[in-house]
Amino acid sequence: MSALALQLAAALALQAAPAAASLARGEQVYTRCAACHAIDTHRTGPRHCGLFGRRAGSAPGFEGYSAALRASGIVWDANTLDRFLRAPFDAVPGTTMGYAGVKDDGERADLIAWLRVATAQGRCTPR
Ligand code: HEC
Repeated sequence: MSALALQLAAALALQAAPAAASLARGEQVYTRCAACHAIDTHRTGPRHCGLFGRRAGSAPGFEGYSAALRASGIVWDANTLDRFLRAPFDAVPGTTMGYAGVKDDGERADLIAWLRVATAQGRCTPR
C-alpha cells in the first residue's frame, strides 16, 4: 500500500473505533465544557444527548438559544462541530456561547470522538 493509502486506512479505522486513549482524552477535554453543559440535562448551555444529526439550536426544551445559532442552518456532525468548537464566534457570529474554543487540533478531534460515543441515542438519557 502507498503511504497515502495507509494513512487513509488508519483514519478510517480511527473513525470506526476511536482508540481508548483518544476517548479518555476527549472525556478529559469535556471537563472544560462542564461549567455550562451536561450530556443529559440542560444547564447554561443545551444538553448534548442526541447531538449528532441534530439541527443547531433545536435541543427540545432548551429556551436559551441565540437567534444566530437557530438561524445558522448547521447540522451537527464531526465537521461542523470541528469548525464550531475551534472558534465559536467565527463559526456562528452572534452565538451566546461564551467560550473561546478548543484551539488544539488533537484535543478537538479527541473531544469530538468522545462526544460521538457519549451522546449517542441509547448511551445517554435526556432528562
Ligand atoms: C460559558 C458557558 C459555555 C461553555 C464553557 C461551553 N458552552 Fe457550549 N454552549 C453554551 C451556550 C449558552 C450555548 C447556546 C449558544 C447559542 O445559542 O448561540 C452553547 C451551545 C453549544 C453547542 C450547540 C448545541 C445545539 O444544541 O445546537 C455545542 C455543540 C456546544 N455548545 C458544545 C460545547 C463544548 C464541546 C464545549 C467545551 C469545549 C462548550 N460547548 C463550552 C455555553 C457554553
